[in-house]
Amino acid sequence: MSSRTVIRGGLVITASDEIHADVLIEDGRIAALAASGTPAAEAWTAERTIDATGKYVIPGGVDAHTHMELPFGGTFASDTFETGTRAAAWGGTTTIVDFAVQTVGRSLREGLDAWNAKADGKCAIDYGFHMIVSDVNQETLKEMDLLVEEGVTSFKQFMAYPGVFYSDDGQILRAMQRSAENGGLIMMHAENGIAIDVLVEQALARGETDPRYHGEVRKALLEAEATHRAIKLAQVAGAPLYVVHVSAMEAVAELARARDEGLNVFGETCPQYLFLSTDNLAEPDFEGSKYVCSTPLRPKEHQKYLWRGLRTNDLQVVSTDHCPFCFVGQKELGRGDFSKIPNGLPGVENRMDLLHQAVVDGHITRRRWIEIACATPARMFGLYPKKGTIAPGADADVVIYDPGAEQVMSADTHHMNVDYSAYEGKSVTGRVETVLSRGELVITEREFTGRAGHGVYTPRSTCQYLN
Ligand code: URP
Ligand code: ZN
Ligand code: ZN
Ligand code: ZN
Repeated sequence: MSSRTVIRGGLVITASDEIHADVLIEDGRIAALAASGTPAAEAWTAERTIDATGKYVIPGGVDAHTHMELPFGGTFASDTFETGTRAAAWGGTTTIVDFAVQTVGRSLREGLDAWNAKADGKCAIDYGFHMIVSDVNQETLKEMDLLVEEGVTSFKQFMAYPGVFYSDDGQILRAMQRSAENGGLIMMHAENGIAIDVLVEQALARGETDPRYHGEVRKALLEAEATHRAIKLAQVAGAPLYVVHVSAMEAVAELARARDEGLNVFGETCPQYLFLSTDNLAEPDFEGSKYVCSTPLRPKEHQKYLWRGLRTNDLQVVSTDHCPFCFVGQKELGRGDFSKIPNGLPGVENRMDLLHQAVVDGHITRRRWIEIACATPARMFGLYPKKGTIAPGADADVVIYDPGAEQVMSADTHHMNVDYSAYEGKSVTGRVETVLSRGELVITEREFTGRAGHGVYTPRSTCQYLN
């Protein structure tokens, strides 16, 4: 038996178009679009009709950078796949790509199996995995080929965190050479971790232990240097490169230069770098710890270069790097030593709204909002056009968005499993009203109607964004 839903009267926005259209959904997929009020649209019958008059009808968000349950700094990110994907749905995101972790001395396969087990049967929305490569050796390189074939087509490496996730330049080059052959995409955490560790040690020796020193030792120049080095290594290997969580204007300049040379070099930034700054890190009474993440928040003057990069397409994607740790008992592990504060911010629920606020503020257009939050992440990570757009054949991952609703972000009302909001008290215009995932109602007029286990593992093809 087929099940049909029709969404009537909304403004359908994709990365390329804005049209007043009705959307027909059949068996979990978009079946057709037709201009509202036309005989073609009026002829559709369906078991369920959703009235979207005065609302936007947009593709579900694709958040290509989350860390549910990530082990870090002696603790675990506080959102499970169940709580984190439910919160994502509340915020209009219908696909996440999370990071499975290879432990040093273990195989990629063991890491991937462990993350599959954590997520299996728990997710409210669809999910895929990138693989964090912590131990580059001959076996790992062979395993990368197998993973690409299976749909894990992107690999994160770290130039930061010596002794934990860190890879040296030789390991990075080898992984890049392999990805040049097998079609994988290397995602780089670009910070010079060796130099940063020296500065951390020196700062602590001077008694500089507060959260704000986290931002001072992780210098913009050391992000720029690592970004430059990663680009050159990728160029030598003939591989594409995706730099994650770009925060420094100097790093944006490195990406822009590489792109002007025609290289397949891509950059992602996150809402925290667009809306928060070192002022937050400097908040008294250890409140600054709530804003400790890496790369770190930067002085406000960097923000305009990030916005510009998003407009010029020198930055292509906005993901959250959602990696929440509670203030009580988790962030507090770093009282008296900023280097022991678990790194990461919550945000999977806030991304679509904050980027809509950027539309309201005039930083980006509505279509660019959908491009950087839905379409490009889907193309970058091999999910398009199944995800990231509203077109016949695509999964019916659809958000009815009320562009005029006013809301105040707060831990009192959010759904992430974390005891603070990085945006506490921030007023934004626009709010998710209803969310469908493969045609099923996950959020219905601001009520959760989904279920753990609805979301399925989604294998990915290779990058669809190459020059
Ligand atoms: O501070 C952050 N970004 N935590 C998550 C791990 C990472 O480096 O992405
Ligand atoms: Zn990182
Ligand atoms: Zn350019
Ligand atoms: Zn991350």
